[in-house]
Amino acid sequence: MKLKSFCHILLMSLLIGMTINCVLSDVPYKEQYFDQTIDHFNFVSYGQKTFKQRYLLQDKWFDAVNKGPIFFYTGNEGSITSFWNNTGFVFDIAPQFGALVVFAEHRFYGKSMPFGADSFKGNNIGLLTIEQALADYAVLINKIKKTYKATKSPVITFGGSYGGMLSAYMRFKYPNLVDGAIAASAPIYLMSKVIDPSQFFVRVTSDFKQSNPICSANIRKAFTTMKSMASSGPAGLKTLSEKFRLCSQLNETSYDHMVGWIRNAFVSLAMFDYPYPTNFMSEIPAFPVDKSCGFMVNTTDIVAGLAQISALFYNGTNGKLPCFDIWEEYVECADPSGCGVGPNSLAWDIQACSEVPMLFSTDGQQDMFPPKPYTPQMRVDYCKTKWGIVPRDQWAGLNLWGKDILSSSNIVFSNGGKDPWAFAGVLHNLSANLTSVIIPDGGHHLDLRGHNVNDPPDVFKARELEKYNIRLWINTAFLRNKNN
Ligand SMILES: *[C@@H]1O[C@H](CO)[C@@H](O)[C@H](O)[C@H]1NC(C)=O
Ligand SMILES: *[C@@H]1O[C@H](CO)[C@@H](O)[C@H](O)[C@H]1NC(C)=O
Ligand SMILES: *[C@@H]1O[C@H](CO)[C@@H](O)[C@H](O)[C@H]1NC(C)=O
Ligand SMILES: *[C@@H]1O[C@H](CO)[C@@H](O)[C@H](O)[C@H]1NC(C)=O
Ligand SMILES: *[C@@H]1O[C@H](CO)[C@@H](O)[C@H](O)[C@H]1NC(C)=O
Ligand SMILES: *[C@@H]1O[C@H](CO)[C@@H](O)[C@H](O)[C@H]1NC(C)=O
Repeated sequence: MKLKSFCHILLMSLLIGMTINCVLSDVPYKEQYFDQTIDHFNFVSYGQKTFKQRYLLQDKWFDAVNKGPIFFYTGNEGSITSFWNNTGFVFDIAPQFGALVVFAEHRFYGKSMPFGADSFKGNNIGLLTIEQALADYAVLINKIKKTYKATKSPVITFGGSYGGMLSAYMRFKYPNLVDGAIAASAPIYLMSKVIDPSQFFVRVTSDFKQSNPICSANIRKAFTTMKSMASSGPAGLKTLSEKFRLCSQLNETSYDHMVGWIRNAFVSLAMFDYPYPTNFMSEIPAFPVDKSCGFMVNTTDIVAGLAQISALFYNGTNGKLPCFDIWEEYVECADPSGCGVGPNSLAWDIQACSEVPMLFSTDGQQDMFPPKPYTPQMRVDYCKTKWGIVPRDQWAGLNLWGKDILSSSNIVFSNGGKDPWAFAGVLHNLSANLTSVIIPDGGHHLDLRGHNVNDPPDVFKARELEKYNIRLWINTAFLRNKNN
């Protein structure tokens, strides 16, 4: 999973086919810091030590008199400001609910570093766990309730992707604090044995196949052609380096890295296959999968087509890169879908090594990518060497409930039909109050983004269902409060 830092987009299409302007949303926030307990589960090791946890707050819609709800975004693997910029749904609905809006930053990401510059050193990384992060959010919710004299305000959590998992987990673990949760594109069954991890790249492939079957077939062929060029010696490597406009000449070792770099572009283009342009590291056009397939179909040079697709993602529509630095733009880690770049990628690598198993491999048969196995043993070896960590999947499955989540309630799980992560999401209604909604034309948590004129009707319906449930949970909370 990787950080999504799009701009929240307002589309103003003047005339069909004419200029489309992308304007950064500027819902303002107050940036605040909270003295958060470093270790919630050990009274000895760090004693009373705290760190500054960042959160963003907007109270202009808050209806304190009528005990308006608290809308709490459970920050995931990135800087909280990027989630603020890309979760317009919360701001679209906050006024009608009279909600206080809080976005909390996950420990070890953005500016919420428990040990400052030493956060990724030695045993310090041991405090980067889902349990600690959930406890942070619980303590913070409690604090905000006190500050705003909002002890009777219902609390609704929101989150997308890993943040969606956290949103659901807050309801699992702290039903005393959280009245309901919106868990968008949350692959919670990663924590169970019921999913087949090879499906991740199969789903990426099917997005391209659905766009055009020739597209996925040609992508597979192009990888095969590349492989033989790379193994033909220095001349082939030189041609590839030029075709892909790489900053430094390929050799046999860096060739594998380049394949990872290309595969990573495909993952992102599939996840962010939105019906309007978005901004992630660079600007991606509307329907980037169809756009990519345009480079692969009706071309005599399919390898050049792959290069165009990679450039579409890494350089964007208005890119400024003179050449591609595959080492800077892609970091290989314990999550084959990518860890992002910079310090946030270190933190996510640690989480992929400890609690979040993502054993996604490719075989070139079911999927369109070159064969690249990723076995449990490979993960253990990597994680031990890199971080001194041995994964504890059984613990994560047990503690975070695996597939047995029926004892919870008041959660809406949404998933996009075009989102490769949906294979590990909740795709069926589990009970009257554990609801699943599918957005057939949706990419990765499209529903959490702000309203857009180009939204497909099914995302409108999903948001209506979410609002309906939020209203229900709030009313249930009021009834309970009245009787207490
Ligand atoms: C969020 O949007 C603001 C403008 O509204 C921009 O200045 C800021 O860089 C964005 N932050 C991220 C992390 O995308
Ligand atoms: C291959 O290229 C990479 C990066 O450009 C470099 O770090 C590495 O030393 C090279 N390996 C060989 C065997 O030349
Ligand atoms: C490919 O070319 C054919 C014939 O020229 C055309 O009908 C088709 O739309 C083209 N497909 C793409 C994806 O450009
Ligand atoms: C990136 O895009 C710009 C145009 O926006 C182009 O001039 C440049 O050559 C591209 N860089 C690469 C490496 O493709
Ligand atoms: C779950 O139930 C709701 C109605 O409460 C319905 O709108 C939705 O389509 C159902 N979800 C699935 C996946 O069938
Ligand atoms: C959830 O629905 C079940 C019936 O499926 C009901 O027994 C339970 O009271 C509901 N819980 C909440 C918190 O609404």
